[in-house]
Amino acid sequence: MPKLGVNIDHVATLRQARKGIDPEPVFAAFICESAGADSIVVHLREDRRHIQDSDLHALRQTVKTRLNMEMSIASEIVDIACKLKPDQSTLVPEKRQELTTEGGLNVFKNFKKIKTALEKLGRHGIKVSLFIDPDKKQIDAAKKIGAKIVELHTGRYADAKSQEEQEKYFQELKSAVSYAKSKRLIVCVGHGLNYSNVARVAKLKGIQELNIGYSIVCRAVLVGLEHAVQEMKALIG
Ligand code: PXP
Repeated sequence: MPKLGVNIDHVATLRQARKGIDPEPVFAAFICESAGADSIVVHLREDRRHIQDSDLHALRQTVKTRLNMEMSIASEIVDIACKLKPDQSTLVPEKRQELTTEGGLNVFKNFKKIKTALEKLGRHGIKVSLFIDPDKKQIDAAKKIGAKIVELHTGRYADAKSQEEQEKYFQELKSAVSYAKSKRLIVCVGHGLNYSNVARVAKLKGIQELNIGYSIVCRAVLVGLEHAVQEMKALIG
């Protein structure tokens, strides 16, 4: 069975809406781990729109499974990771104006910069994964650069507007997974996976871990609402 990494960025998004202390990502991580999450994933964005440096430090102290820090290759962020020592760093492209990570790293084009970040993190004992599109050229470049782990971006499959399009991108993902496996890379997948599109992907042979965030946090809000209202009603009563 593939592993599940739970991305809790959007627990922090909710907290940042009021800039208060609730909901606390450390508590969320604890619940995810108790429910079976195999790792906790957080993205320290350069604009700190959700996860803050203090969250990372607290998570480093409390996460008992594995802490996977998503991050850009900006030197300020690489330095933070080297000090913090998450179990894994997942290098992603980052644009300030994007709502979420829109595509994979162009390892081909940014070979030198990515190699520098990868090697520095490696020297600090951190495993490094490269978030790339399900594309042979990028897989080849990831292998060439010395990566041991890749995470294939499932956004094209997840965001497909028709069944035909979804099928096309599913086949693209499937062949990328087996190509990356043939190159002896550890293969993870993620982005846009939800309760209706995950099953097919999870069945693909050779996937080590699925990293899922937004849909789980959305579902948590809805399935938790009834209980939350009942608790408040009881207090008022
Ligand atoms: N994997 C990576 C590398 C990501 O950047 C993200 C989004 O932060 C995810 C997985 C999770 O995507 P989603 O929140 O759409 O499930």
